[in-house]
Amino acid sequence: MRLPKAGTIEIVPSVLAADFGCLAAEVAQVEAAGVKMIQFDIMDGHFVPNISFGPPVVAALRPHSLLAFDVQLMISEPRKHAEAFVRAGADHITFHIETVREPLEFVEELHKAGVTAGVALNPETDVLRIVDVAPYCEMVLVMTVHPGFGGQEFLPETAEKVRQVRELVGPATRVEADGGISPQIAPQVIGCGADTLVVGTAIFSRKDRAAAIAELREAVEHRALRTPD
Ligand code: DX5
Repeated sequence: MRLPKAGTIEIVPSVLAADFGCLAAEVAQVEAAGVKMIQFDIMDGHFVPNISFGPPVVAALRPHSLLAFDVQLMISEPRKHAEAFVRAGADHITFHIETVREPLEFVEELHKAGVTAGVALNPETDVLRIVDVAPYCEMVLVMTVHPGFGGQEFLPETAEKVRQVRELVGPATRVEADGGISPQIAPQVIGCGADTLVVGTAIFSRKDRAAAIAELREAVEHRALRTPD
């Protein structure tokens, strides 16, 4: 299992905001800055109003990086495509609860395939939808923007959802927040119980990615792992 064990705060660059023309170099830059994991936003133009990339991009990057590959499936049929991402080198696969009828079965399939499993919920989805499956997942992802595009504003009402998810899963499961995260927003989200921050624009829009990552780390340091406010 390459997903960092719960108990640390992780900054996870989202490659959706990186320069696709030199993706391996972009990944090498954030890896050199000390992150442990990167996220791949897989979009099908159906579940979300955008199309990103598929298993070939993950497979192309795998030989170039030792990072944990966190693959978020924002697609309508994740069970049909998950195995291709596992073969491509994914270490962790997150699916959206809004897209799967039998989530427990799917989590079991992912574990059997040798990856860790995560369940995601959109801003408008109630935490009650994941009560049964969350205990079997290594990570729960709270979308803090409506999925589909990078560069959006953080939705303030999602901070409460982060708190509810942390209360639901306890300390042994990672709680990931994704969308609109910046050094200004990060302390609040960590304060609500998140420990894994997905960041696209606030890292890749900067020339100096290492400095951008250091700024995020500094912003959250004093909020590290306290019980939610
Ligand atoms: C949006 C994606 C996010 C996004 C994050 O649907 O799931 O991962 O790329 O990028 P920023 O940090 O720019 O909101």
